[in-house]
Amino acid sequence: MSEARTSFSAPIGTHDVLAPETDRWQRLLSTFAALAGRAGFGLVVSPTFEDLGVFQRVGPGTDVVRKEMYDFTDKSERQMALRPEGTASIVRAYVEHRPPVPWRAWYVAPMFRYEKPQAGRYRQHHQVGAEVLGSADPDLDVEIITLLWDFYGALGLQALDVVINSMGDPEGRQRYADVLRAHLEANLGDLAPEDREKVTGHPLRVLDSKRPETIAVTNAAPQMLDHLSDEATAHFARVQDGLQAAAVPFRVEPRLVRGLDYYTHTLFEVQSSALETAQNAIGGGGRYDGLAHALGGPATPGVGFGAGIERILLACDAEGVFAHDGSAPDVFVIDTTGGDAARDVVTALRRDGLRAERAYDNRSMKAQMKAADRSGAALAAIIGEDERAAGTVTLRDLGRGEQRAVPLASLADEVRSPRS
Ligand code: HAM
Repeated sequence: MSEARTSFSAPIGTHDVLAPETDRWQRLLSTFAALAGRAGFGLVVSPTFEDLGVFQRVGPGTDVVRKEMYDFTDKSERQMALRPEGTASIVRAYVEHRPPVPWRAWYVAPMFRYEKPQAGRYRQHHQVGAEVLGSADPDLDVEIITLLWDFYGALGLQALDVVINSMGDPEGRQRYADVLRAHLEANLGDLAPEDREKVTGHPLRVLDSKRPETIAVTNAAPQMLDHLSDEATAHFARVQDGLQAAAVPFRVEPRLVRGLDYYTHTLFEVQSSALETAQNAIGGGGRYDGLAHALGGPATPGVGFGAGIERILLACDAEGVFAHDGSAPDVFVIDTTGGDAARDVVTALRRDGLRAERAYDNRSMKAQMKAADRSGAALAAIIGEDERAAGTVTLRDLGRGEQRAVPLASLADEVRSPRS
């Protein structure tokens, strides 16, 4: 019984993120916020749970919705679900508030998927994402992909592949699904058994399969790009043109379908070649021109991406970029007079914009010096009885071991620009 348990750890597939790892998260988020802000995106904060129906509109062929959703009945018998992905929530918010279009929203949020946990695949992961609603202009597809590309570039990532494809408009997608189904049905016996059940209801999902028998069949299948309408072909051509103009390197991958059902026209994924293939997607997205209507709103085109923070940081580690910056205090205050001086000086220095630390529990001078060394601070401000009486501080360079007396009143300035 859970009441009898006396020790707990984070649930399977979830993680506590502590400092200094969280320092990297903060830097990653401010990098993303700055780029998104420059491109006109505003931060949107939406609920962590929604009506189950919001996510069901993402599509019945989506594993994320069909098999992996954290759904529950609340105390008023409402069917709810923890957010498995961000786009449906943003589009629900758009339909509810109808902001002026094009509406550009960015978000950072936890996502919940009941997956088999492994490196880079968690039951709670976090995404930064961006969505634009209200225009079908292919230049927005380009802006979205460029934003994602520039974000990775700002972190220092280089071992990246951008793959793109087009699903065409909904009618074209349906036409192609029928053609593909016929091909798969004709070769049913050659497909991996696990993929056969998808053929009738969700033939496009079969293109996603990593099983060799299935890949042999789908390699010979008719291709989506050959079944696009003229309009969809022109849209895709404009996207490729724009990516070239923006110097975003990309490869057209006709088998790319992605795991979510709402996509129309452009689809894309960014893969890190520094990561294991199974979890190498560090971001992805596409156009979803039918989702707003499916969520009860007026037909409103949209395009966006989501990018997994944990996976991005794994890719950074694999490439040796965007490391911890090992930030240390500016100054460590040592007080041998009983603690009042440390208390008051630390407060004053912090208010002055400096990062100041101290020891507690009235420790000995030696113990405080040790703590100062451990903190990584370059300077120690030492206050003993003599200093207190004279209104001074002994400022010690912990690297060189040199020290000198400075007036307490000018301590902050001295810490900011120490004289050599
Ligand atoms: P998604 O491809 O399902 O798309 O997820 C986006 C990114 O989240 C992935 O590329 C990956 O980096 C990360 N991710 C997904 N699942 C996990 C997991 N279990 N553990 C760790 N990281 C994970 C979406 O969610 C769409 N909403 C993207 C989008 C936005 N499409 C249009 N707009």
